[in-house]
Amino acid sequence: MSLLFALIVLFLTILFAILVIYILIVLLKTKVPFVRTPERVINQVLQEITIKPTDTVYDLGCGNARFLITVEKKTGARTIGYEISPWAYFLSQVNIRLRKAKTIVHYKNFYKADLSPANVVFCFLINSVMPKVGKQLERQLQPGSTVICFGFAIKAWQPAKIILTKPDNPRSSKIYIYQR
Ligand SMILES: C[S@@+](CC[C@H](N)C(=O)[O-])C[C@H]1O[C@@H](n2cnc3c(N)ncnc32)[C@H](O)[C@@H]1O
Repeated sequence: MSLLFALIVLFLTILFAILVIYILIVLLKTKVPFVRTPERVINQVLQEITIKPTDTVYDLGCGNARFLITVEKKTGARTIGYEISPWAYFLSQVNIRLRKAKTIVHYKNFYKADLSPANVVFCFLINSVMPKVGKQLERQLQPGSTVICFGFAIKAWQPAKIILTKPDNPRSSKIYIYQR
């Protein structure tokens, strides 16, 4: 009995170690950790942008899908995310079920996705990947689309608007809004 218990513990430990190593490899590849956008910032975005039920909203690297689920519940828009980290993807699936949402999250690298169905794109990534993301969006987005970048700008593009997340603090994080 105690041998069986020891084997189960060993098996679970190995499984856990494999998962941790896999998550670290994904992190090293993407260089973008999972940090969620605060609810307050999601609400700021929704105050600035009019999203209609006929819109299709993508979140590139959607983490736990909180942004997409909030957008779906508040606007009725079609919401789709891409997520490559297994832990964040797992959390997105839990959140979708808990909130009974229709949001779809693909467990996939968004660089390999077709973004052309989106007319609103949100991303919260990191500076070093923004040039590549900008080029993909230039190739794939329909004219008239809106792109919202939280924290990190697409430097080659001219923003239509920049919003301070804390208006009384000029050094607070910014939301960049682009019209294509
Ligand atoms: C800073 S988090 C933002 C999460 C979510 N968008 C939010 O605002 O709450 C960035 C997420 O992007 C994911 N990610 C980074 N590069 C990716 C890629 N190429 N394809 C899919 N997901 C990616 C990371 O795994 C991470 O969960």
